[in-house]
Amino acid sequence: MMESISVSKATVHGIRTLSKKLELLEDKNSQIYQENVAKFGIPEEYVRKAFSEEAVLEATKSGKSTIYLALENRCKILGFAQTIQRDHLTTELDRIVVFPSHTRMGIGTRLLTKAVNDEKKKGTKTIIVNAGKKETHARRFYEKNEFKPTKETEMDAPWGSKIVLVTYQLQIEDKKHN
Ligand SMILES: CC(C)(COP(=O)(O)OP(=O)(O)OC[C@H]1O[C@@H](n2cnc3c(N)ncnc32)[C@H](O)[C@@H]1OP(=O)(O)O)[C@@H](O)C(=O)NCCC(=O)NCCS
Repeated sequence: MMESISVSKATVHGIRTLSKKLELLEDKNSQIYQENVAKFGIPEEYVRKAFSEEAVLEATKSGKSTIYLALENRCKILGFAQTIQRDHLTTELDRIVVFPSHTRMGIGTRLLTKAVNDEKKKGTKTIIVNAGKKETHARRFYEKNEFKPTKETEMDAPWGSKIVLVTYQLQIEDKKHN
């Protein structure tokens, strides 16, 4: 039931548990693998590095990055989001993932809402996120949550080929001042 699902900032223990769970990315049949790895031809080695415990802890140690976890009964990780502060007005949503067994239940939206509310309190005005042009699920999710596409960039991916990224922005200016 949704009542038992909570969303909060991750503790170091939570981050360790998360990085273990991310071994899921090595399941080649999972939707996460298909959408984020197979489609772009990202080498597995790169994926393992990007999602390793070390990489995640390093990002949070810098103080510019926050990880949020969606937990069932305070222990089972159903999804996570990571934000990285770019400057005092802008924060990037670096990634948001809900594990395939629990998608379309509003968990992605709850993770996003928690992150956006924290950013609003800090005085952030803009949240940016990049999505692969072909990542239709992710793009619909951002559009449903009021992100607006602002530009398209062709990128040399770190693994050699080219991909097109769509940059989305969410303005979180306080409504009462508009
Ligand atoms: C994108 C993702 C985070 C969405 O999480 P979620 O918990 O399923 O999202 P929600 O249930 O809050 O969905 C909110 C709305 O977004 C849209 N949406 C979400 N998933 C969608 C999909 N697969 N197809 C079409 N629309 C979708 C819908 O409008 C949905 O509302 P609805 O269910 O009432 O129609 C999740 O599908 C995921 O982890 N995907 C793989 C990883 C990924 O691509 N991450 C983004 C890049 S890092």
